Amino acid sequence: MKIAFFDTKSYDKASFDKFSSDELEFKYYETKLNPDTARLAEGCDCVCIFVNDVLNAEVIDKLYSLGVKAVALRCAGYNNVDLNYARGKIAIFNVPAYSPFAVAEHAMAMLLTFVRKTHKAYIRTKDHNFSLSGLTGVDLNGKTVGIIGTGRIGKCFANICKGFGMNILAFDKYPDQALNLEYVSLDRLFKESDIISLHCPLTEETRHIINETTLENLKKGVIIINTSRGALIDSDILLKGIKSRHIGGACLDVYEEESEVFFEDRSQNIMDDDTLARLISMPNVLVTSHQAFLTQEALNNIAETTTLNITEFFKNGDCKNLLC
Ligand code: NAI
Repeated sequence: MKIAFFDTKSYDKASFDKFSSDELEFKYYETKLNPDTARLAEGCDCVCIFVNDVLNAEVIDKLYSLGVKAVALRCAGYNNVDLNYARGKIAIFNVPAYSPFAVAEHAMAMLLTFVRKTHKAYIRTKDHNFSLSGLTGVDLNGKTVGIIGTGRIGKCFANICKGFGMNILAFDKYPDQALNLEYVSLDRLFKESDIISLHCPLTEETRHIINETTLENLKKGVIIINTSRGALIDSDILLKGIKSRHIGGACLDVYEEESEVFFEDRSQNIMDDDTLARLISMPNVLVTSHQAFLTQEALNNIAETTTLNITEFFKNGDCKNLLC
């Protein structure tokens, strides 16, 4: 079987090469999958994509006409895939869980960095500046954290927050009573949380869950963490909230328009996205480039499950992580 990988980085190759075999031949492309690049999959049985590759109707038609039978997502979220259109044409499968700990721990790493200003202290001491002025932080103990989405990652994050002695308010469309969390309305979560962490998927229902109306309901000084998907937050409203001082800070691992910016070195480029440039310039906004998943354990699990999905599907015409 030949598999064409899109949006491939060196760490993808390193983890997937361990699983190549006589049966599985990998072709790596650095470019993202889109209508212009789909033709690169010619002669391949399967295509392997990541979060910012496009799998819309046009791309599905192109892959289908090339004889591609399946698309393996090497990620959990599939908001970039038109599943309805793919049905009956191309099989799609994903990696639903590879390390919820990786993402939850990154969310906490960002929060700790933010509240204790360790990123600023690191730069100061490198320069032999041992002054503490401006480094006053806040305790997490006793603070209220609102967790939206208590699935695999949200649950891990809740456990970490419990360890810090934080009070937890949770909101989920499908509350899991076995978790022993205090589920409240979204409205109450917004009003009472000192910190809000987003762990729900991006759907039509959750798009801009942080918007102009909700901004008014948020507790003054709230810190928002987003390690889920950028479009859960209306970025212009986030910026507005930061500028008005209503929002006290943001820790963003994902960004609404990230696909044209993240994952590449753009240090020599002029930033076209004014909202992102302004957000990054704020002293109370911390941005990482969709790296929450990036641990050795997660990469290994992604490669293992993806190759298992592919072999299972091509052997049995089915696999346990089949989305359509
Ligand atoms: P999951 O499917 O285990 O949990 C998602 C939870 O959200 C479920 O409990 C579900 O009931 C809930 N939910 C669904 N619709 C909702 C709504 N309208 N309102 C509130 N809650 C809703 O997913 P998991 O593994 O915890 O991942 C969560 C998200 O994290 C993924 O969808 C993905 O977008 C993101 N992610 C980000 C990564 C990164 O590197 N930054 C890596 C992996 C995932």
